[in-house]
Amino acid sequence: MERENKITVLDFGGQYSHLIAKRIRHLGVYADIMHPDTDVDSLGRPGGIILSGGPSSVYSEGAPPFNPAILDLGIPMLGLCYGMQLMAYLLHGDVRRLERREYGRAELEVLAGSPLFDGLEPRELVWMSHGDSVLRPPEGFAVVGKTTDCPVAAIADESRRRYGLQFHPEVKDTRHGDRILANFINLCGLEKNWSMDMYIQEKMAEIRAQVGGRNVFLLVSGGVDSTVTFTLLNEALGEARVLGLHIDNGFMRKNETVLVKQALDRLGFHNLMVVDRTDDFLAAVKGLTDPQAKRKAIGDEFIYVKDRELANLDLDVAHWLLGQGTLYPDIIESGGSRHADVIKTHHNRTDMIKEMVAKGLVVEPLDQLYKDEVRMVGEKLGLPHDLVWRHPFPGPGLAVRTLCCEGGESSGDLAELHAALEKKASRAGYESVVLPVRSVGVQGDSRTYAHPAAVDGESDWERLDLLSTDITNEIDGINRVVFKIGGGRLGNFVSRVATLTRDRLDLIREADHIAMDVLKKHGHYESVFQMPVVLVPISSDGTKESVVIRPLESSDVMTARFFRMPFECVQEMAERILAVGGIEYVFYDLTNKPPGTFEWE
Ligand code: XMP
Repeated sequence: MERENKITVLDFGGQYSHLIAKRIRHLGVYADIMHPDTDVDSLGRPGGIILSGGPSSVYSEGAPPFNPAILDLGIPMLGLCYGMQLMAYLLHGDVRRLERREYGRAELEVLAGSPLFDGLEPRELVWMSHGDSVLRPPEGFAVVGKTTDCPVAAIADESRRRYGLQFHPEVKDTRHGDRILANFINLCGLEKNWSMDMYIQEKMAEIRAQVGGRNVFLLVSGGVDSTVTFTLLNEALGEARVLGLHIDNGFMRKNETVLVKQALDRLGFHNLMVVDRTDDFLAAVKGLTDPQAKRKAIGDEFIYVKDRELANLDLDVAHWLLGQGTLYPDIIESGGSRHADVIKTHHNRTDMIKEMVAKGLVVEPLDQLYKDEVRMVGEKLGLPHDLVWRHPFPGPGLAVRTLCCEGGESSGDLAELHAALEKKASRAGYESVVLPVRSVGVQGDSRTYAHPAAVDGESDWERLDLLSTDITNEIDGINRVVFKIGGGRLGNFVSRVATLTRDRLDLIREADHIAMDVLKKHGHYESVFQMPVVLVPISSDGTKESVVIRPLESSDVMTARFFRMPFECVQEMAERILAVGGIEYVFYDLTNKPPGTFEWE
């Protein structure tokens, strides 16, 4: 059978599996994704195969089934992280769980002249996220790269064109990851002939085919994703068959609804309605503290409101499909790929929506894309620069940035964690305390819900970055580290009972408005990918709140690094936020992703 000009990614449930396909497409070669147990006939004859990472260990019972016949097809193969471990294990190498987990940046020493590493420096910055490691490669493989913590970080069997990397070349934090993937494409002998224009044309044809004679109703938040989706649907179907609804759910930023309406009016859309449903949404989340429960309630409320609006307009629900600006990361982090762990359920991936998806009632033209690709589509569709480059904002909005908790816990209750933390922090010259709340994180492809640590001391981003990585790598039970930028000395913190109330939302709205204002004033808006501002119900006596600023650099949201903001800008944010009243401390989030997610809930 003739080889197809494409690469097939076998998805073992890694948080980055789809990113691999995306990177390959950006490099000009079509890539698709298949299950690892696909039979040889369905697999066809791709020019290359990439085995993705995944949350399992090769030794765990629940590891995704793999069809070993794929190894015998003689197709060039690249195994990444779990994919490398699996290849090594099946070919009789030695794979072990290591004492020391490795997350985040590492320096790769390029050992031998493998063509996979053509054009690389002798030392390269790479991104690691793993617990298991290959200790001894299988016969026929040479070790072609190592890091301090991982002596077998890259292996190659040149004669069979089989390669394995313990790090992730598909994330931007591996500085020359694209080079490595391009080298693999060359090793597969593939031609570069794929483009984004082709993708847009294909998507429009798919939209027309899926919708048929029906119409599409779309919730338009005014963010990049929903606006691009709205524009694409209008282009594909025409204005008469698309209706947009902007819902003010009470979780929006200050003045957001007014600004969105103005922007879309300026774009000349006549098919957008605006409604205020704050009361309904507040009623839906009343008393909830669990992040997943909040997200579910908000996601479901969007659907109830949509159905009520359709009924008010006397539109036939069976005739109107639901359009959504869902991106690929929303699906993967909601546990959308068969073997992936649920990190958090995005509001557009609740059970109710999944049922609708299964029935073919949801149109999601961006569901294969990442944020930077959506921006490319937006620019190709002629949307204005400011809109295309707005910071992303989550559907549940400030609701997931207003941390809720049962209250009644104090730092003093967390003595064991504190002892482990203090040892590390004081050695680095910082004061520290464990905060008595929990936030969501992601480590080694799995969800965590653990405590943040706060540190105080010298304003030195490099030292703080190292300390933060050290703490989250080494101390189970701490998944985030924040740096005190406003308020008194660190002492005992007490959490208070906190749910989503109008007062708390107004407080976070104001703090968010100030932080964004300062960021823009200092000219850093476009250097930052996104900057959640989080309200955390902790203070020294349990009556006040704290605020966390979380500016991040990222291109695809799957990984991110905290942004190193000039300290005068940091200082101004902290001072102005403290002046609002009701807020005792302001912190700066030092956590990269992994181990922290962008949002705290
Ligand atoms: P996390 O917190 O998962 O966020 O690291 C990654 C990106 O997704 C956004 N986000 C959401 N977007 N609905 C959305 O539309 C959601 O429920 C949701 N949760 C997180 C987040 O702001 C970031 O850009």
